Amino acid sequence: MDARVHRALELTSTSIGSKVESHVEDSSNRYVLLYELAKEIRDPVSLRFELINVFLPSRDTTAALLSNIFFQLARHRKYWTQLRETALSLPFDPAEPSSLSFSTLKSLLPFRHVIYETLRTLGPAGRIFRTARRDTTLPRGGGPDGRAPVFVPRGVTVCSLTYHIHHDKDIWGTDADEFLPERWEQGPKNAWQFVPFLGGPRICPAQQQVMIQATYLLLRMVREFEWIQNRDEVWEYVELQRMAVESRRGVKIALGSTSPVCPSEQSSPAVSS
Ligand code: HEM
Repeated sequence: MDARVHRALELTSTSIGSKVESHVEDSSNRYVLLYELAKEIRDPVSLRFELINVFLPSRDTTAALLSNIFFQLARHRKYWTQLRETALSLPFDPAEPSSLSFSTLKSLLPFRHVIYETLRTLGPAGRIFRTARRDTTLPRGGGPDGRAPVFVPRGVTVCSLTYHIHHDKDIWGTDADEFLPERWEQGPKNAWQFVPFLGGPRICPAQQQVMIQATYLLLRMVREFEWIQNRDEVWEYVELQRMAVESRRGVKIALGSTSPVCPSEQSSPAVSS
């Protein structure tokens, strides 16, 4: 990364003058984030960290989400069939991927519900950290019933566990631990009850991209394969916390297109950390 940073600083060194700037832009004819950053941030270390701040959150997160979707679908197989029916009803030519528009992908509610329910039950972003830059009082969360204010002194780090918000029975009901995509048919939750991408000014800028990529890949897979099977003798999700929340055991599944000998459906997997 440092080599790229130095090159970008060199190439943009006279970016205030037009010669090198136009060389940078002409060479690829694309908007290159690094070059745009380098025009404003001249300190190599700051520039490196600004760049890492974009790359790190993208590393593995969408892949972890997709893996978690396959994990859930292999254990709740009727949703695979439902998604497949939706996918096959679309006028889609696999030889012409652009026959699926952005708005069509966005409109596929069964897909959105499966992705949302996976983000809720096994979301890749498990922990959010914030450090108080000044003495701060949070309006709620303190006292025996959690309704009193909480004082957070300057420098103290607060960790919010999205897993707990997404499994809170007061918000999601007694079946909060179950994988039930149909719960989304009642419409979206309040903004701060479902926070897989967080919210506010630091909300994940890639959430549309993630939803579209996940929908597209899932759509291609359910079109291709008639069924999915779990091939892991451990039913529960055993969590591995890295950049994203991943399955420690990987995702062992089989996919096929003729009727298999199916293991009987089992109930929703518990999560063990
Ligand atoms: C399933 C996939 C993803 C999930 C669940 C997710 C979730 C999140 C969350 C919760 C945050 C806020 C973190 C915080 O403020 O502490 C965040 C920030 C961010 N995400 Fe994502 N993300 C995903 C994929 C991606 C991808 C693919 C990219 C880039 C292509 C990306 C780029 C970013 C960036 C740049 C930030 C920092 C924004 C800022 O600090 O203002 N994310 N993401």
